[in-house]
Amino acid sequence: MVTESIKQAVAEALTKLGIKNPDVSLEHPEELSHGDYSTNVALRYAKELKKSPQTIAEDIIRYIVLQKIPALARAEAAAGFVNFFLAGEFFAERIQEILEKKDGFGKQDVGKGRKVVVEFSSPNIAKPFTIGHLRSTIIGDAVAKTLSFLGYSVIRDNHLGDWGTQFGKMIVAIKKWGDIQKIAENAAPVRALVDLYVCFHAEAKTNIALEDEAREWFVKLEKGDEEARGLWKQCVAWSMKEFESLYKRLGVSFDTMHGESFFEDKMRAVVEDLERKNLLKESEGARLVFFPSDSLPPLMIIKKDGGTLYATRDLATDAWRKREYGDGVIIVNETGGEQSLYFKQVFMLEEMLGWFARGERVHIGHGLTRGKEGKMSTREGNTIWLEDVLDEAVKRAEAINKETAEIVGIGALKFNDLKREAKQDTIFDWNDVLNMKGDSGPYLQYSYARAMSVIRKSPPQLRRGAEFARRGGGVTTLERLLYRFPEVVLRAGKDYAPHFIATYLIELAGAFNNWYAKERILNAGEETEYRLALTAAFAQVMKNGLWLLGIAAPEKM
Ligand code: ARG
Repeated sequence: MVTESIKQAVAEALTKLGIKNPDVSLEHPEELSHGDYSTNVALRYAKELKKSPQTIAEDIIRYIVLQKIPALARAEAAAGFVNFFLAGEFFAERIQEILEKKDGFGKQDVGKGRKVVVEFSSPNIAKPFTIGHLRSTIIGDAVAKTLSFLGYSVIRDNHLGDWGTQFGKMIVAIKKWGDIQKIAENAAPVRALVDLYVCFHAEAKTNIALEDEAREWFVKLEKGDEEARGLWKQCVAWSMKEFESLYKRLGVSFDTMHGESFFEDKMRAVVEDLERKNLLKESEGARLVFFPSDSLPPLMIIKKDGGTLYATRDLATDAWRKREYGDGVIIVNETGGEQSLYFKQVFMLEEMLGWFARGERVHIGHGLTRGKEGKMSTREGNTIWLEDVLDEAVKRAEAINKETAEIVGIGALKFNDLKREAKQDTIFDWNDVLNMKGDSGPYLQYSYARAMSVIRKSPPQLRRGAEFARRGGGVTTLERLLYRFPEVVLRAGKDYAPHFIATYLIELAGAFNNWYAKERILNAGEETEYRLALTAAFAQVMKNGLWLLGIAAPEKM
């Protein structure tokens, strides 16, 4: 690789200047106009060499020029850096590699032999699938795909919220005001359940006995009472029916769906473990874990009435996962950002228990979805039904093209959630979401379709796959970006941050569209073959990138 030759030459130059065992690293400069790679060694060794960085950089360049590294076009000294510009043949080889590896371009094996549980989506039974759960579904899916591309063995888990005292209320409401037959026939049964839930809270304001009844029913449910169990199962089935249809539309699937209820009978062992290790302290009748030097607020494990909590179930969940998947498993939770402090507590406790090493527990906390006018979260009532949001996106995408409306509409929603760092809020504005000219899903899909249409129109004898004639001309931004895709995937995986892929694809599409506007691709004489190969390489990388984000790449649009 040319990068190795450059590193070696730089090291030799530094040795000549008097540095023993110089440490040379290459990076991409911040700006593409500063070249393909650069090194800061001139700055780093200036003191030791008692020379200005500029002088050292020039000395290095003088030495390197003599080495005549084939794929290096030129080097420049600027602000203490040495910037390297690679030659056309380097990029031609990368394009060849893209066209050979096809859908596998960008795949790596850094995660080989390592298991990762990516837990995401995790909606609550008998409650609406919120816009927040949508974000979790989209981000979690992209993270899972990226990690599997990097060679990890990924377990996609949906940690359903299917347990808790609210089911006591649900049962009371169904028994008092519900009509099982009617709910079952409802196309959207969850809406009926949510109405019942609202009913319960309205009534409970004046009728305090209802809360006691609800508590009793939850106790019955915990004890396995047949009627309670039956109604609860019904709720789960109704909700799942609705969730499944959303997942289908979103193209998202799971390997496991162990909800919170699955861990009901696994909590006792965990509490005993905490007790044995002397980690539970009594406070006002409840039992809590206090953290060393109060670095975090205490975490309640057992309530005053002896009941367990969300945290108790999470601990049981992770203990089970560790047993099931073995030591060294990495567990990622994708949830709303408001749970960040909570997960810090859980992670610290799990470290205190000696369950997980640093880096084996990861929380991705996403920001809120805000409309242009402010909050769009559903926590305070006024429910936004996701089905309606998907329908609206698709309806709006029909204006672009009727045939591709479903994948363009859904792709647009996904990209809107992935283009920014997860922890940031998503600003929801239909005009941005579907803007063909902006940083949007449709913009990326359209660039892909455009490239595919050029290829379709080209003479087949000139589509020679990875065997094209090299050209002599200059190097464009498009080439300078294409080969970096695997590095972008690696970064996105290591940081659990798919937005790196999203922003890269925006830059890439921009480079392609600029190039496309300036150059002829077909009928470009002897350049045609290379330009077609470059177009095909762009299409391939865009497709792979979109796949990682869970967005379909339409051949026509
Ligand atoms: N069901 C929860 C919610 O809607 C998310 C669950 C997150 N996962 C976990 N292991 N606690 O907020």
